[in-house]
Amino acid sequence: MKGLILSGGKGTRLRPLTHTSAKQLVPVANKPVLFYGIESLVAAGITEIGIVVGDTHAEIEAAVGDGTRFGAHVTYIPQDAPRGLAHAVLIAETFLAGDRFVMYLGDNLLQRGITSLVAEYLSLGVDCEILLTKVPNPSSFGVAELDSSGRVVRLVEKPKEPRSDLALVGVYLFNDAVFEAVKAIKPSARGELEITDAIQWLVDNGNSVKAHLVSGWWKDTGKAEDMLEANRTVLDAAEPLGEPVADDLSRVEGKVVFEGGPGSVVLVDSVVRGPAILGAGTRIERSFVGPYTAIAAGCRLTGVEIENSIVWEGSTLEDVPLRISDSLIGRNVVIKRRPEMRPKAHRFLVGDNSEIGIGE
Ligand code: DAU
Repeated sequence: MKGLILSGGKGTRLRPLTHTSAKQLVPVANKPVLFYGIESLVAAGITEIGIVVGDTHAEIEAAVGDGTRFGAHVTYIPQDAPRGLAHAVLIAETFLAGDRFVMYLGDNLLQRGITSLVAEYLSLGVDCEILLTKVPNPSSFGVAELDSSGRVVRLVEKPKEPRSDLALVGVYLFNDAVFEAVKAIKPSARGELEITDAIQWLVDNGNSVKAHLVSGWWKDTGKAEDMLEANRTVLDAAEPLGEPVADDLSRVEGKVVFEGGPGSVVLVDSVVRGPAILGAGTRIERSFVGPYTAIAAGCRLTGVEIENSIVWEGSTLEDVPLRISDSLIGRNVVIKRRPEMRPKAHRFLVGDNSEIGIGE
């Protein structure tokens, strides 16, 4: 089997954190969401992986490389514009060359991986298997309607009036019947070749389509709460790893991952309470890092308390008077108490669409 990961689309402008980067590279527990997809394919024994790339191809290629570090061989498939998920399948036909394949949307994360799904698909011998999950807001997704025996009857992309609460998760298993489908369908009202229409075509033309219900799914929606939730879920499942260099006043409680090899993270007079992850070269001094916090590489925290938050690389947090909670802090950010500053005021240099909550 082969893997096809969709990592194209336009550079997003959804929120300050992705002004400059591909949404598939948003970090969850210090790792780009795209890497979870690659790793679950490899864990399922799929090492020949095609990645569809668009505007942000340079950034994706710089992050993933040729796939060797994942134990995979990666081929990049350029897509000239985001013409739809079924269009991505169409342009990947030569790469997929008659093999069965898993299509994985690069901004999706499945907590339990896909190993058992791949095994199920291969043993069932069906043409296509789709994954569904119950969601509170089905209009934001592809929605499936099943009959009383669980067979797929109808699939509609982002319906205004959804006929079920079963959303399509961004992982699909196909054989080569899908190529006839993606060639037969026409662009939707939003001008895209929809994978939902291609799967509907498979159903209407007598192909076998199996629906599998899953839980533990996350998709990058661009919302802070969603990112924090994904971070919590992954940290909950992580095993403790690594050792910091810590002085006698410091304490590590619960499950904490220290990245960057022995002694790369430094703790001085600090408490780290897991589940948490601290990136290589990060220094924590006179601070408390509380549960569900991911701090990326090269950060400096001095005199702060932080919990349930994500901090990207190279940021500095210093002597912030109140605890930082439920926050996303981007790359190379500086938040610092400066008592010498005149006039005495809050001084902000903040990008578009940012949000700052002042607790007192
Ligand atoms: O995440 C699940 C949902 O993904 C499904 O419920 C929907 O049925 C499906 O259409 C898709 O919906 P979205 O509108 O959320 O897809 P999005 O545009 O976010 O694209 C998903 C991924 O595929 C993303 O990593 C970008 C990539 N992509 C997208 C398009 C349209 C491509 O590589 N090429 C494309 O042409």
